[in-house]
Amino acid sequence: MLDSKVVELLNSQVNKEFYSAYLYLDFSNYYYDLGLEGFGNWYRIQAQEERDHAMLFMQYLLNNGEKVNLEAIEKPSVELTSAKAVLAKGLIHEQYVTSLIHAIYDAAYSVKDFRTMQFLDWFVKEQGEEESTADGLVRKFELFGDDPKSLYMLDSELGARVYTAPSLVI
Ligand code: FEO
Repeated sequence: MLDSKVVELLNSQVNKEFYSAYLYLDFSNYYYDLGLEGFGNWYRIQAQEERDHAMLFMQYLLNNGEKVNLEAIEKPSVELTSAKAVLAKGLIHEQYVTSLIHAIYDAAYSVKDFRTMQFLDWFVKEQGEEESTADGLVRKFELFGDDPKSLYMLDSELGARVYTAPSLVI
């Protein structure tokens, strides 16, 4: 049995990760519509990763004999105003997700739930990588976004991203 507060936060995280997937699909569609198919591809794969994260949280609850409560997924609420602005919103969203993961970690820590802390270690590291990647995209766009040739190359680079399953197996 896990602590009820930890279970509540883990359940909520399932929803938040599915929301992230939904949000990134919205980003992806926005870029496809602009003709930036590489960016569209990049965010579509990001959405797949977020779905994977949701599934991992769900499986962790099931593995521990806990009920999974699936709530309604909110409509993506971020305003998509420009190719550059969307990247910045992506970084802000990842920083928010990091704060959520840390809050669950904090709750687990306070009840000495070492199992959940160990499970979350992967996500703590993953969030570090996600923030760094999102920040990298913002910086690249700042450097190259105004030059059509460079933007074309950046779009091609992002178009080469392929989906890989998460390294965490539970
Ligand atoms: Fe599941 Fe991008 O954090």
